[in-house]
Amino acid sequence: MGKTQSKFTEESSIVIKIFKKNNNNKSPFYLTPSSSLRYKKRKSANESFKQISSSITTTSSSSSYSNNKSNSIVSSVNSLLNEDHIFKYMGGRKFLIFEDARYLLPFDDDEHARLQLQHFLYRHMWNGNFSSPVHELLQNSNATVLDIGCSTGAWTLDMATDYPFSKFIGVDIFPIYPLEIRPKNVEFEMANILNGLPFDDGTFDFIFMRSMNLSFTSQEWENVVMKELMRVVKPGGWIEIMERDPWITGVGPATDKCNKTFADELKTRYNVDPFISPHISSYMHSTQKIEKIFHEEKKMIIGEARDNLSKVCLDNYKWFRRNCKGSIGTKIENFDKMLDESFNEFKDKKAYETSHRFFAMKKIEDGNSLN
Ligand SMILES: C[S@@+](CC[C@H](N)C(=O)[O-])C[C@H]1O[C@@H](n2cnc3c(N)ncnc32)[C@H](O)[C@@H]1O
Repeated sequence: MGKTQSKFTEESSIVIKIFKKNNNNKSPFYLTPSSSLRYKKRKSANESFKQISSSITTTSSSSSYSNNKSNSIVSSVNSLLNEDHIFKYMGGRKFLIFEDARYLLPFDDDEHARLQLQHFLYRHMWNGNFSSPVHELLQNSNATVLDIGCSTGAWTLDMATDYPFSKFIGVDIFPIYPLEIRPKNVEFEMANILNGLPFDDGTFDFIFMRSMNLSFTSQEWENVVMKELMRVVKPGGWIEIMERDPWITGVGPATDKCNKTFADELKTRYNVDPFISPHISSYMHSTQKIEKIFHEEKKMIIGEARDNLSKVCLDNYKWFRRNCKGSIGTKIENFDKMLDESFNEFKDKKAYETSHRFFAMKKIEDGNSLN
């Protein structure tokens, strides 16, 4: 081990060792879609990943401030946050290159502030945090709920406050969720869904996943993510996926050009199709674990022509596009100019932004196994 690594505690030295083993000097941004062989490799890598996760998982029982283990976990994670092998700076912004993350947004305070804003925008727009018929269940019983790709934990924490008798677990590929201060009914855990979630079959009553359209290829959505969701939800439990359509149409030619440029870059460089909402139902059905899928969509005016809310929507949209500069934007000529020309078109427009919720119950007669 090198000099820098020797300062790490036992937990974080495991992390670094495993990370180097899996790194292969490849940028995760150029990974190809998972073949079954690759998926098998990931499965074995996942054993190592589980060790990492368990070493920095934080639970309510270990969250006491006077608890030495908790403090050492926090300091080891803080040390990790400075580690070059985990982050890469592109266009002056910090991006995660840990494990096989294909995450095209920065991993810094600015983007996390945007995600917080977006959480409250969505909650307001939808008049609630979810659409599945689980309110009674969460309110009255000891339900277990999973939030995949929980990021800062905004949804998990909000829900845990609303439903104090249920237990909430947020997972993310890297710990940006609160490590110390959180309600008693919340746990956060580090997990990469593409490697398989570290939970037994049929663990959860309700699983929620939102805004993951830049994180998976279409093949991963269908062959890995959906199957993993169906595996860890209980028979009779609910799965809800929420995605926003990434392109705003009807604004003007500069915005159309911007949409197309983003789409082409995402496809050719990352094999990602951010317009995932038209496919979610068929991917869910292909698991054969559900009978009926419910779909709701909301259109929200975005622009400067209407009210404060539509202006905040526009701010969030601009913020999102700008934050893609270090990843998607690096190969696009005159990226800033392209964005400015598009943003100028919103001035007198009432464009719409559409978001979707797909929710379905896992069939009861199927049992827990996907085999
Ligand atoms: C756009 S953010 C959405 C955050 C949150 N779901 C929300 O709606 O506010 C996507 C999150 O997914 C996480 N993520 C990306 N790939 C992942 C993976 N393979 N497994 C688990 N989390 C992942 C990222 O780290 C990031 O925090």
